Amino acid sequence: MKDKISKSGIEQLRKECLSEIESVTTSQEELEKIRIKYFGRKGKFKQMFEVLKEIPLNEKKIYGELLNSVVAELKLKLEGKLKELSVKKVKEKNELSILELTLPGMKFSIGRVHPLQKVYDEIIDVFLRLGFDIKYGPEIEFEDYNFTMLNIPYDHPARDMQDTLYLDLPVTKNGKLLLRTHTSPVQIRVLLSEKPPIKSIMPGRVYRHENLDATHLFNFHQVEGLVVDKGIRLSDLKGVLTYFVKSIFGQDIKCRFRQSYFPFTEPSLEMDICCLVCKGEGCGVCKNSGYVEVLGCGMVHPQVLYNVGLGYEEYTGFAFGLGVERIAMLKYRIDDIRLFYENDIRFINMF
Ligand code: PHE
Repeated sequence: MKDKISKSGIEQLRKECLSEIESVTTSQEELEKIRIKYFGRKGKFKQMFEVLKEIPLNEKKIYGELLNSVVAELKLKLEGKLKELSVKKVKEKNELSILELTLPGMKFSIGRVHPLQKVYDEIIDVFLRLGFDIKYGPEIEFEDYNFTMLNIPYDHPARDMQDTLYLDLPVTKNGKLLLRTHTSPVQIRVLLSEKPPIKSIMPGRVYRHENLDATHLFNFHQVEGLVVDKGIRLSDLKGVLTYFVKSIFGQDIKCRFRQSYFPFTEPSLEMDICCLVCKGEGCGVCKNSGYVEVLGCGMVHPQVLYNVGLGYEEYTGFAFGLGVERIAMLKYRIDDIRLFYENDIRFINMF
């Protein structure tokens, strides 16, 4: 037994144990096995201590101290390693929970162009392709521009027809101030500020004193059109508007012009397209006519040209006005105009 203990023997066992501890990388169980192997009841160091009992006192002291310090050092290493492993485990767990590849991805709700804006852009685009430019006018307008200069005199029923929102402000030299009831006053502004040739569209918001229902809002959008030059004819109007309607509703769409009345155009027309719901058969939407109205138009009334100081013998022109909401409703078959302004994300996501 005596030869079983020596400084080199203890050192060798120390190194052996140390390298085994170091080699453990993941499993805590492995570490536990090492602990038992060296420090358990039948462990290698336990056996050394047994040997210690049988050697002379002076040697016992030397080897005893050495063994104690080696054991203390190794146990510290063991504990350190145990801690290291458990920290590693927690870290891995956290990383896994962030990187859970089997989880379904997060859904981000991204913005969309509002259907009304889409149609608005499309309409404007068609006219830009045809060489029109864009003009804007104010939403607060003079009574004279909104009515009088458009050949709608004070006592004309059209002033009542377009139930007007007047502003409670002092009367100007151009009459009362009001919220424009149509984009036609921008025609007057363009005609007063420019010389022909004029080829403009005038998009914008308009206001009417209406009760809200499925087809009426108190504010909505129009796109006005005006072409004035020498030799502009009704056939130009028909060509431009037919091109427009086909661009928006498809090349195969059937359309027609019907005579109508507006004080600022002569002759006045309304343009209809074949009902998209029943394809012309007749249904509730087209009131059994097979057609639905898309816009109002006509040749600029000579009185309007006269009002802005243009020679009506020299110049002619055509004008049109369309409702953006109306076009969008026809195009997407929406039966309630209020849907455009409720901003229900389920509605907006449909386009
Ligand atoms: N301003 C008319 C309306 O709001 C539409 C229109 C514009 C008609 C231009 C003819 C010419 O109903």
